[in-house]
Amino acid sequence: MIIDLLRQEHRNIEKLLFVLEQELSVFDRGERPDYEVMWAVIAYFQVYPDAYHHPQEDMVFEKLKARDPAAAANIGDLAAEHRRGAERLHRVAQAVESVLMMDWVVPRHTVDDIIRDFIMHARSHIAMEERDFFPAAVKALQPQDWADIALSRATGQKDPLFSEIVEERFDAVRRHILQLEQEAEAERARC
Ligand SMILES: [Fe+2]
Ligand SMILES: [Fe+2]
Repeated sequence: MIIDLLRQEHRNIEKLLFVLEQELSVFDRGERPDYEVMWAVIAYFQVYPDAYHHPQEDMVFEKLKARDPAAAANIGDLAAEHRRGAERLHRVAQAVESVLMMDWVVPRHTVDDIIRDFIMHARSHIAMEERDFFPAAVKALQPQDWADIALSRATGQKDPLFSEIVEERFDAVRRHILQLEQEAEAERARC
């Protein structure tokens, strides 16, 4: 079921948010975080949610608006929330870039605030969706709605095989990031 897939994607997103948080705590201690890991997480978030996760949520939300406008209104403007998330991520990328360039245009504590703000909002967005949005959709949408969404999922991509390959690649990238993070943690534990 689509909602189960979206929930699973949330679990994947949470794992990467945790990795980012781990690296941020290294930065906060005044040590050098693993910037390769940080960049990999940022790059993942720059592509994955808008390519896969948000379009599906938007489709479910459109159906909810039609079936239960009051419930949809209660949730608010989902697309705007997704846009704001992308803006926060853009600030994270700029902040990390500023650290790497050592230009300190962005002060150290501001870098921390920007990354923490991104992580906090991403988590509360996921929590809101699982608490309010998904249950409202499960309650209001009819079998035909889910069938429509599944169909547009399948036909939305010009080449389903290509899209499957891309999805597998994202899985591989995520596994790679988690592996890199484990190595970075092990290395730090040795020091
Ligand atoms: Fe969302
Ligand atoms: Fe979501």
